[in-house]
Amino acid sequence: MSARARILAWVLLVVLLALAGTLLATRTVLRNQLDQRLDNEIAHGTNKLRAYLASPDSRPPGQPVTVDALLGRYLERNLPEKYETFFSIVGGVASRRSAIEPPARLDNDHALVTELVRATAPAYGTVNTAVGSARYGVIPVSAENAPGRGALVIVEFVDHAAGEIGDVVRVMAVMSGAALVLAGLVGWLVAGRILAPVREVRLAAEQIGESDLTRRIEVRGSDDVAALGRTFNTMLDRLERAFAGQRDFLDDAGHELRTPITIVRGHLELMGDEDRETTRLLVLDELARMQRIVDDLLVLAKSGNPGFVVPVETDLADLTVETLAKARPLADRAWRVDAVAETVIRADGQRLGQALLQLVSNAVRHTRDGQEIAIGSAVTAGSALLWVRDTGEGVPLDSRARIFERFKRGTNAGGDDGAGLGLPIVAAIAEAHGGRVLLDSVPGAGARFTIELPSEAP
Ligand SMILES: Nc1ncnc2c1ncn2[C@@H]1O[C@H](COP(=O)(O)OP(=O)(O)O)[C@@H](O)[C@H]1O
Ligand SMILES: [Mg+2]
Repeated sequence: MSARARILAWVLLVVLLALAGTLLATRTVLRNQLDQRLDNEIAHGTNKLRAYLASPDSRPPGQPVTVDALLGRYLERNLPEKYETFFSIVGGVASRRSAIEPPARLDNDHALVTELVRATAPAYGTVNTAVGSARYGVIPVSAENAPGRGALVIVEFVDHAAGEIGDVVRVMAVMSGAALVLAGLVGWLVAGRILAPVREVRLAAEQIGESDLTRRIEVRGSDDVAALGRTFNTMLDRLERAFAGQRDFLDDAGHELRTPITIVRGHLELMGDEDRETTRLLVLDELARMQRIVDDLLVLAKSGNPGFVVPVETDLADLTVETLAKARPLADRAWRVDAVAETVIRADGQRLGQALLQLVSNAVRHTRDGQEIAIGSAVTAGSALLWVRDTGEGVPLDSRARIFERFKRGTNAGGDDGAGLGLPIVAAIAEAHGGRVLLDSVPGAGARFTIELPSEAP
């Protein structure tokens, strides 16, 4: 079921319920009003009869004075309303009735008349007639100086009158049906208009394949749908960057590995019996270099994964001292500890140790025997610092911008030993902790690389 059809179905259901409720309520209210009105009509008739009997009007001079005559005159003067009829009972049988023909004759109903005769005081009841149920009131009449006993019966044809309500309800129902159809049409159009941009986004999304991540959805306005389009475009930006990054990564890695492979092949192809040993050493050397590159690449490839760093309680003092102990045998330098932070933070101690050793190996490469290399740790407001400082040649100004990029080395790199993956690994480890790497360097006077971590690392 399409979103459009679903919206329409809901609209129609709500409208239908509202209309049905209105119809039902209207019918009930009208029916109650009608019952009330007809009951009043009976009471009104009773009062009128009493007033008539008490007035001289009921006994004009020269006319016979009997109950029958009294009631007869009353019936002549008082005509029933619609859905109403009057008749008189005298001497136990129905006598006269209103001149207007009623919807159903009750004066012919012997069983009813017999029952009504028994009333000694005004009484009310309900009776079934040919036109449905009717309410009646019977008022016994006996007059002073008038022989005979009688009664006036007032009948209100309730069900018959309710037929009018049926008409009203039917007209309302027809109008409700029309309103429902109209609501359906309008709902269909409005839903279509609202959903059109969503459809556009979907169609555009379908057309944007993995091969064509440069396409974007055209965003108009500032509503939710526009926001959806913008979010979608942002996601495409990220995807495009990620794909491009991956392509570059593979490109760089392939390129970097091709050199040692070419060297190894060349030497093996040209190898004579006499230079076997030299070639063997050279090949082993190149393979070791490849091994280092592949290891570093694996670390970098993993750095995007969620499990790359596993933060635990890590003692910064232990980390500082242990790193120095591992560094000391690497070269003959003046090894120092600048500062030791006596703090425990949540961080991945092994990865941080790996990063510090990368910095140490760079420091060793860019210093000479006897020059100073120092390791330190400290805590400032909100962050923990770990650093490696040397008094070597420093980072050339023109290289600073690029040395944290993959496979990029400085103009002072020298030798074939590195592949430009050390600092990117350090940066990746810092970033995985929510931190960063800072560089202070004075060319000719040494460099200091600082890993800055938030003291509440993720
Ligand atoms: N302690 C340092 N002193 C001077 N230059 C440095 C130092 N550490 C790094 N560099 C510069 O940063 C570049 C990148 O370092 P790195 O990513 O570890 O790659 P690699 O060591 O393979 O060259 C180096 O080539 C060098 O130019
Ligand atoms: Mg390095």
